[in-house]
Amino acid sequence: MSHPKQVVLITGGSRGLGRAAALALADQGDDVIITYRDQAGAARSVVEAVQAQGGQAASLQLDVADVGSYEAFVTAVRERLQQQWNRTDFDALLNNAGHSLNRPFEQTTEAAFDALMAVHVKGPFFLTQALLPQLRDGGRILNVSSALARFCLPGHTAYGAAKGAVEVMTRYMAKELAPRGLSVNAIAPGATETDFGGGAVRDNPEINAQVAANTALGRAGRPEDLGVVMAQLLSPESRWVTGECIEASGGMMI
Ligand SMILES: NC(=O)c1ccc[n+]([C@@H]2O[C@H](COP(=O)([O-])OP(=O)(O)OC[C@H]3O[C@@H](n4cnc5c(N)ncnc54)[C@H](OP(=O)(O)O)[C@@H]3O)[C@@H](O)[C@H]2O)c1
Repeated sequence: MSHPKQVVLITGGSRGLGRAAALALADQGDDVIITYRDQAGAARSVVEAVQAQGGQAASLQLDVADVGSYEAFVTAVRERLQQQWNRTDFDALLNNAGHSLNRPFEQTTEAAFDALMAVHVKGPFFLTQALLPQLRDGGRILNVSSALARFCLPGHTAYGAAKGAVEVMTRYMAKELAPRGLSVNAIAPGATETDFGGGAVRDNPEINAQVAANTALGRAGRPEDLGVVMAQLLSPESRWVTGECIEASGGMMI
């Protein structure tokens, strides 16, 4: 590790990219607090995996769509920091939790649209706001966009719009939070083999082959491809990068 140990808070750290980020951070010597929505067992196994790598970890339940629960969540974070790390602040935040929506424009209901915006846009906006007093000056925020905000695949109008909003929000947050020395960036993963979207990219050979054929490096992304980039962007070494969206897609649709 080339920087002092950090405590990084990851939403949606129980599976997929959040889990991969937790393991990559542990690999570079950092500690993590991960959140999960339903899968407490999966979250526990991430905590154990980080501990097996010699790091410290904790997991907390959070539904990112439930802004009303944030006050209690922030208290839980503060208590956990105090108990486990003997401090009340943390170093970096990864706003990662999210679900997919693959539905034609004409068939996208208001409820599905609202649920998507609640988790991907309203969540990172108000959760970051609620956690700001606990985030140390000079720390980092990383939001998760998608390559689907750059190119268009039918069925992703609402999802792509939500991720487009994440990228614009990221630039504004970078501007407004800069006086505290915080750097704020987004990462835009390409199609990656996780449970996302019912695990289609990982489990459907046709979709996997289609992704590979449209990716310069010739395969779909794996969670660990993204985890290491996330860990780097959350590190003090990336402090001079701010207001950027970094795509990590193996060159999808270029
Ligand atoms: N995989 C891809 O191809 C891809 C590509 C571009 C961008 N992304 C983005 O990357 C992020 C992570 O995706 P992933 O592939 O890792 O998905 P995943 O494997 O399905 O994992 C989703 C994670 O988010 C949590 N979560 C879902 N909804 C939540 C909510 N309302 N409140 C709190 N936590 C919630 C889940 O918790 P539980 O385990 O408790 O359910 C889980 O930890 C998302 O923002 C997604 O949009 C993914």
